[in-house]
Amino acid sequence: MAVPGPGYSITMRVSAPPSATVAGDLTTAVGQAGGVITGFDVVESANDAMVVDISANAQSEDHAEQITEALNALDGVQVRKVSDRTFLVHLGGKIEVQSKVPLRTRDDLSRAYTPGVARVSMAIAKNPDDARRLTIKRNTIAVVTDGTAVLGLGDIGPAAALPVMEGKAALFKRFAGVDAWPVCLDTTDTEEIIRTVQLLAPVYAGINLEDISAPRCFEIEARLREMLDIPVFHDDQHGTAIVVVAALRNALRVVGKDMSDCKIVVSGVGAAGSAIIRLLLHNKPKDIVAVDINGIVTRDRANMDTNMAQIAELTNADGAAGKLSDAIAGADVFIGVSAPNILTEADVASMNSDAVVFALANPDPEIDPLLAQQHAAVVATGRSDYPNQINNVLAFPGVFRGLLDAQAHKITDEMLLAAAEALADVVSPDQLNSSYIVPSVFDEKVATSVARAVSSAAGGGTKTGGGAKESALLSDVRD
Ligand SMILES: NC(=O)c1ccc[n+]([C@@H]2O[C@H](COP(=O)([O-])OP(=O)(O)OC[C@H]3O[C@@H](n4cnc5c(N)ncnc54)[C@H](O)[C@@H]3O)[C@@H](O)[C@H]2O)c1
Repeated sequence: MAVPGPGYSITMRVSAPPSATVAGDLTTAVGQAGGVITGFDVVESANDAMVVDISANAQSEDHAEQITEALNALDGVQVRKVSDRTFLVHLGGKIEVQSKVPLRTRDDLSRAYTPGVARVSMAIAKNPDDARRLTIKRNTIAVVTDGTAVLGLGDIGPAAALPVMEGKAALFKRFAGVDAWPVCLDTTDTEEIIRTVQLLAPVYAGINLEDISAPRCFEIEARLREMLDIPVFHDDQHGTAIVVVAALRNALRVVGKDMSDCKIVVSGVGAAGSAIIRLLLHNKPKDIVAVDINGIVTRDRANMDTNMAQIAELTNADGAAGKLSDAIAGADVFIGVSAPNILTEADVASMNSDAVVFALANPDPEIDPLLAQQHAAVVATGRSDYPNQINNVLAFPGVFRGLLDAQAHKITDEMLLAAAEALADVVSPDQLNSSYIVPSVFDEKVATSVARAVSSAAGGGTKTGGGAKESALLSDVRD
């Protein structure tokens, strides 16, 4: 199912004997090896040789090597160097800190730093809420991970998680102007993570937990929400849930069904599946049946942890038992956040008419979307190379923008639901069809609509709690 994409993009510096057909020979060799050429630049030219940079998308690292070999096999052609364009993008990291104030003169230094800064520090010491007005706390969140559930890569540790967290921070800035800083912790101990986040919280106006494995992620989030006066949001749970609920609202509009008539099967009861189920329940579906690696989740299952026991209580009204194929027969909706290739074409065929299938396991979905389309009316995946990509970036930048704008101290399910509704409504009735149930991530209305909805649900515009109070010193400072 892999197709050449920008994630495996290489630039090959190639020397070749000059001839009338050289450009055609080189590009044909790359094309025949399955590469997709994205650039062809002549770097040097002489009577007896020319040097060109050929950029191409490949399917994998091995495929990139095959493309290189195909060029080397041509008469007189030599690949001198291969650059991996994805690695080039990461050289030295992807984000940086910049000063917002001029530091050109002694006066500048005296105001931005000592001695002037001391008066600002004392103002905050007297009135800690002023930190939101006079420091980076106003617009800054931490992206906290322990590196245990990074993308589909599993427990790869905090250092290896950093490129992903940097990317997340870059997306926060690009899509919502939020300053996010990666915090990769060298521990997987629940108590140490909670205590560490508590200790570093004074700097931040929000905590985005990221790629922390289940079931620890549930306790870490719940305890931090209890103890901190800033919102704590585990994106793998709630970001996914917001986008799935938004996409499902629109998918059901396409097929003309009401949520209250729908039997929904959720495959995967980890971080994503649990949060999806909880948010969906607010929309009152007819029933949700949860399935995990051990089959349908039932109330009498042995050795359930707290999260699983809650999910068992909340789902499966009819007490069904068995495997995924037992759950899926007669269902209206399948939502997969579990594992690749576990749903068969026959399973989809056994669903109700006008079925909706969200096969979101990454990078390989629960079923090949082309197979699912044979029997389902609407199909979505987590992949960018198919229509209807369920991508958390549709939610998390706007969610935190809204929380920061409202100076929110908490995040609630009402805010998550408001975000989902706003996201769904970005797709206008004129645009809605079976291949367009979620907007493009580059649609500028996405983050602003989600932010407005979250801010409004958080008491929008008004500064909640202590944020409303200002010290006398600040009375003439404007926002
Ligand atoms: N936007 C998106 O598209 C999106 C968002 C979040 C997660 N995901 C994907 O969803 C999957 C799960 O993510 P997570 O963070 O919840 O992981 P997780 O490890 O917390 O949970 C995985 C769940 O899948 C179940 N599972 C594993 N193998 C199974 C099988 N063969 N049959 C049925 N269930 C099985 C496990 O029992 C567990 O309940 C991953 O592939 C992830 O990439 C996609």
